[in-house]
Amino acid sequence: MPNRWRTIPFLLSFIIQSLAAPQSFENTAIVRSVELGGVAVHVTTTFAIKALEPGAKVYTIALGRQEKEKTSWFEVKVKGQQNPLLISEHPYAYESTRNYHLVDVTLPRPLTANGTLNIVLEAVQTHATTPWPTTASQKEDQALKFTADLLVLSPYHTLVQRTKLKALTPRLISFTIPKEVQDFMPDTPASKSGATVTYGPFNDIPPSANENFIAAYQQPVTIHYFHEQPVLEILKLTRSAEISHWGANLNIQDDIQLHNAGPALKGHFSRLDHQSQAFYKKPAPHALPALTLHLPSGIRNAYYYDLIGNVSTSRLRVAPSPPKNSKTKQYSVLELRPRYPIMGGWNYTFTLGWDAPLADSANWDHATGKYMVEIPIMTPITGAVVNNAEVKIILPEGATDVEFTPPFSALENRVSTHVTYLDTTGRPTLTFEYKDLTVMHAQSIFVSYKVSLSAHLKKPVAVATAFFSLFAFALLGRRINLTIHKNKVL
Ligand SMILES: *[C@@H]1O[C@H](CO)[C@@H](O)[C@H](O)[C@H]1NC(C)=O
Ligand SMILES: *[C@@H]1O[C@H](CO)[C@@H](O)[C@H](O)[C@H]1NC(C)=O
Ligand SMILES: *[C@@H]1O[C@H](CO)[C@@H](O)[C@H](O)[C@H]1NC(C)=O
Repeated sequence: MPNRWRTIPFLLSFIIQSLAAPQSFENTAIVRSVELGGVAVHVTTTFAIKALEPGAKVYTIALGRQEKEKTSWFEVKVKGQQNPLLISEHPYAYESTRNYHLVDVTLPRPLTANGTLNIVLEAVQTHATTPWPTTASQKEDQALKFTADLLVLSPYHTLVQRTKLKALTPRLISFTIPKEVQDFMPDTPASKSGATVTYGPFNDIPPSANENFIAAYQQPVTIHYFHEQPVLEILKLTRSAEISHWGANLNIQDDIQLHNAGPALKGHFSRLDHQSQAFYKKPAPHALPALTLHLPSGIRNAYYYDLIGNVSTSRLRVAPSPPKNSKTKQYSVLELRPRYPIMGGWNYTFTLGWDAPLADSANWDHATGKYMVEIPIMTPITGAVVNNAEVKIILPEGATDVEFTPPFSALENRVSTHVTYLDTTGRPTLTFEYKDLTVMHAQSIFVSYKVSLSAHLKKPVAVATAFFSLFAFALLGRRINLTIHKNKVL
């Protein structure tokens, strides 16, 4: 073998190493702040970073395994700025045994040596809490447990880090005191002040996004806290949005399977106890008497029914349609009051729908000759997580050149045809499936398509045909009637 070929493996491994080696940074400080909630928990981590070499542009964030698997939404920004930074996740396999996950963040500009920047990782974890105890009577409290890793991992050396867990009330039941493991452990590694438990400060932590560090020093910490709001999940949301140019209408219908994921109700439900608790303004924290939803402005014909029928105890205050291109968003407010309070462990299935003027969410683009319609993925319910969602967008009959821009990728999306009464060719239908949606996912899918004039006319023609058949049928019926009548007379 010629000599120069021998150097190739060496060169390759050198290239691979220099690709894999993280650009050098140092964390001057990391502060992680966890807002404890029900099914959704918000985690904000601020990294004060310093470049150790000039031109450093890609900073790597590490998540622990549990954290990665519970996180259903995250975003990285420069502190105080609006636009999210470009991120690229390293491959991650759920079946692997790796205990950390890496995400590369492209900084807005390369840092100079000793240049600093504060970057913020905002994340929402879902199904991260469990009710404990798992059952509660109507008069008992509701308490939840949340577990996190003690240390924020990083491929870089960290000068100081802290983690703060914040409950909604100062009534905490317990929290883990970490085991003493290392030099960077302070004398009091955990302290409570009001509703907040602080772990740290931990000083001078070596690079920790590796299996050796994790095996030696990482440990779980659990906080057990009272939570005075119902813990809500939507097991399944089926939204169908039907666009009709003929009626200038956008109909949205949601079929919702709501579940109270708090402690299961122990014993019977007593309406008397419930009413007296309501009277003393001390409702059971795990009972859900009503929900407030923010629906779009300008809606009409709102309806709400459950398995028994129309629910007439709800109140809707409709806000008028906004002027075109107005920046301020107004909402119609629906106070949705089921027939009975939804207690821990109970399900409630209902349907909610409304019509809205199509002009409020559609635009016509002269340049492309296409309509562009904005369809919101969901109507958020404060604190609730949507475990499974199916969003169906039914376009007008004869729509062509269909394109869509989703705000984030779906588990699955497909195109099919939906045929209803009076349709001749059926309507193109887009279906999107999602998992674990939170308030952060309450964004819109934009769909654009063309409708030709003949397609516009198809509907009136179909209606006219139907009308004439009905007319002919009525004539025929009348004839038969006459005959019968005649027969009778005879
Ligand atoms: C960066 O800071 C270190 C320590 O303060 C100093 O020794 C070094 O000269 C600085 N480098 C640059 C390029 O400013
Ligand atoms: C359902 O209840 C609402 C509110 O009371 C009422 O306006 C509406 O007419 C009812 N709809 C039906 C189909 O009964
Ligand atoms: C709620 O619905 C889920 C899913 O359909 C089901 O597994 C569960 O048993 C239901 N709970 C109750 C109390 O009916």
